[in-house]
Amino acid sequence: MSIIYDKEHRTFTLHTMNTTYQMKVDSLGFLLHLYYGRKTDGCMDYLLTYTDRGFSGNPYDAGTDRACSMDALPQEYSCRLSGDFRSPAFDLINGDGSFGCDLRYRNHQIIPGKYGLAGLPAVYAAEDEASTLDILLEDAVSGVQVHLLYGVLPAYNIITRSVKAVNTGTGTVCLEKVQSACLDFVTGDYDLITFYGRHAMERNVQRIPLRHGTHVIGSRRGTSSHQYNPMMILAAKDTTEDAGPCYAMSFVYSGGFKGETGQDQYNQTRIQIGLQDEWFSYPLSPGEEFTAPETVMTYSAEGLGELSRNLHRCYRTHLCRGKYRDSVRPILVNSWEAAYFDFTGEDIYRLAEHAAELGIEMLVMDDGWFAKRDDDNSGLGDWQVNEEKLGQPLKTLIERINGLGLKFGIWVEPEMVNENSDLYRSHPDWAMQIPGRKPVRSRNQLLLDFSRKEVVDAVFEQICNILDSENIEYIKWDMNRSMADVYSALAKEQGKVHYGYVLGLYDFLERIVQRYPDILIEGCSGGGGRFDAGMLYYTPQIWCSDNTDAVDRVRIQYGTSFGYPISAVGSHVSAVPNHQTGRITSLNTRGVPAMSGTFGYELNLGALTAAEKEEIKEQIREYHKYAGLIQKGDYYRLTNPFESEVGAWAFIAPDKSEALLNAVMLEIHGNMTVTYVKLKGLKNGKLYRDEKTGSVYPADALMEIGLPLPMKLGEYRAYQMHLIME
Ligand code: GLA
Repeated sequence: MSIIYDKEHRTFTLHTMNTTYQMKVDSLGFLLHLYYGRKTDGCMDYLLTYTDRGFSGNPYDAGTDRACSMDALPQEYSCRLSGDFRSPAFDLINGDGSFGCDLRYRNHQIIPGKYGLAGLPAVYAAEDEASTLDILLEDAVSGVQVHLLYGVLPAYNIITRSVKAVNTGTGTVCLEKVQSACLDFVTGDYDLITFYGRHAMERNVQRIPLRHGTHVIGSRRGTSSHQYNPMMILAAKDTTEDAGPCYAMSFVYSGGFKGETGQDQYNQTRIQIGLQDEWFSYPLSPGEEFTAPETVMTYSAEGLGELSRNLHRCYRTHLCRGKYRDSVRPILVNSWEAAYFDFTGEDIYRLAEHAAELGIEMLVMDDGWFAKRDDDNSGLGDWQVNEEKLGQPLKTLIERINGLGLKFGIWVEPEMVNENSDLYRSHPDWAMQIPGRKPVRSRNQLLLDFSRKEVVDAVFEQICNILDSENIEYIKWDMNRSMADVYSALAKEQGKVHYGYVLGLYDFLERIVQRYPDILIEGCSGGGGRFDAGMLYYTPQIWCSDNTDAVDRVRIQYGTSFGYPISAVGSHVSAVPNHQTGRITSLNTRGVPAMSGTFGYELNLGALTAAEKEEIKEQIREYHKYAGLIQKGDYYRLTNPFESEVGAWAFIAPDKSEALLNAVMLEIHGNMTVTYVKLKGLKNGKLYRDEKTGSVYPADALMEIGLPLPMKLGEYRAYQMHLIME
């Protein structure tokens, strides 16, 4: 049994293959957190300590027991008003204007299978793969009930959490904060690892020691954002890639979020993540309910590498969906960096001709094909093909491209509108802007109010008109600004708009997924501005960054790999000098990081020399050989490219029969010292043969001492080695 309720001790124990999670209902009905970590049996309530502490108040019903305080005890789901003065997970305003509530245990249910969340993305599982625990807490005064949902996937070492609040009272309350998961640790000295960045430089890794006070990350932008990824890791001080305890919380949501962690006055640690509570104020009338998005948690006693692999396995097979979930994605060429807005249908066709010659499998026509869209100042909102610009009907163009043996894909940005568009001229109130104020423009575009169903319906219809009439096999779903003017013309409560927008987005995407199950969707938001687990439920791949520079990509994809499977990472070979950095790297070097994801090209193939074309053909042949291993193999980070002179990583077959080593030299110096890259994850005691040279290496030496990289001159050299177990 993966979920056990012990009546005697009133404990709930959740077991996965390698981890255990435990909580307890105390004598007053408070739900206290006991343990999360390495798998164990038994009752851990001995960890709770009770002492009379100054200024840590006591629940009224504790009577004269001054040792019982929610301010010091580890909470499972803390709320304001319980006497816990740390940052609460749950807060509301009552009908009388008072803040907070007092949540106590009422009952629980253990259910086979994994719960789902209506209208929200969530991890899914077959009934025999998962179990659900639903613990009901209640505030007797307001009648607000809170369901704490736990999904346990033992084989994946994953525990998911979500929260449903129901107003069973007689008056309206207003939810002010609903975090999806909170974890309290009574002991420990942790580091916090987060992923920060900016447009074209996403998911840099920051590891800092946790101190007293609260460290907050999040997004107020209406998207999960380039600036902070909705994911946090707590690691013991000495935890490395390969050893030591660590915990991950990954938020399955694509809008604003807030992650908080820090040490309290008693040196205890709290970490929690959920919806951004700024711009959130959610009235709940009697009978109404509110569902918070899911948070996925995993624990590894074997370091950060195992932690990531737990998330990879779960997201790749139990969050991503559809036809392309398990299949190797087509190698594509995208027109963006090849032509930007400056193309005709013939240019696109020629790009496809070159692509066909090289062995590329799909042509993606990026921005610029619709309405009046010769630059990024107009046209968004009008999803009609600009046949004049293309010089031929889209149908003809697609048929000709299909005739070359290529699939055809197209770029869309359904959430946006330019003021210079027919849609805006006929429905200015569909754009998010506050009456009487001028909106913040970004890329000269405004957001459509996707919290309104009629707006979603109207854009959906336009997009379907295109998808229904043409043979389109891929969509790149883009989103190129942050939400600044939060206002919905019809909403009575503006505090619901941020959340309502994301639900509208998910509704749109779900309808697309259901209606076009065979279309592959790639998410995008100025590259990786919405690279989150929520999007992965609809789009099994996401354009990782607008930065296609091979060297920067080594670092961006390293950061991304902590939380997301390699099968989700959109990565392309582009031209040199690189359009974002001006850096020059060889085709080989550009190919190595690009292959560590959903491989493709994004450059004017017509401008390539004959030698470059031959090299690309070879690159594509190689990719086909490794694609299955890259997509489904276990991913190992071999170095930290923020600190090391080499960026190196490997894919290891689950049965360890083969490995693909990748390395990019990030620095070159005179009279270089030798760079040894240590392999990981190989089978001890075995020999591995380099497929190209035939050289044979002992696995243990490869993992203990490493492999010396060739000492060749030249910047940013890259190496790939395919090792086969003898
Ligand atoms: C965003 C995307 C790019 C490209 C442009 C088109 O920036 O990230 O890849 O699609 O939009 O306008």
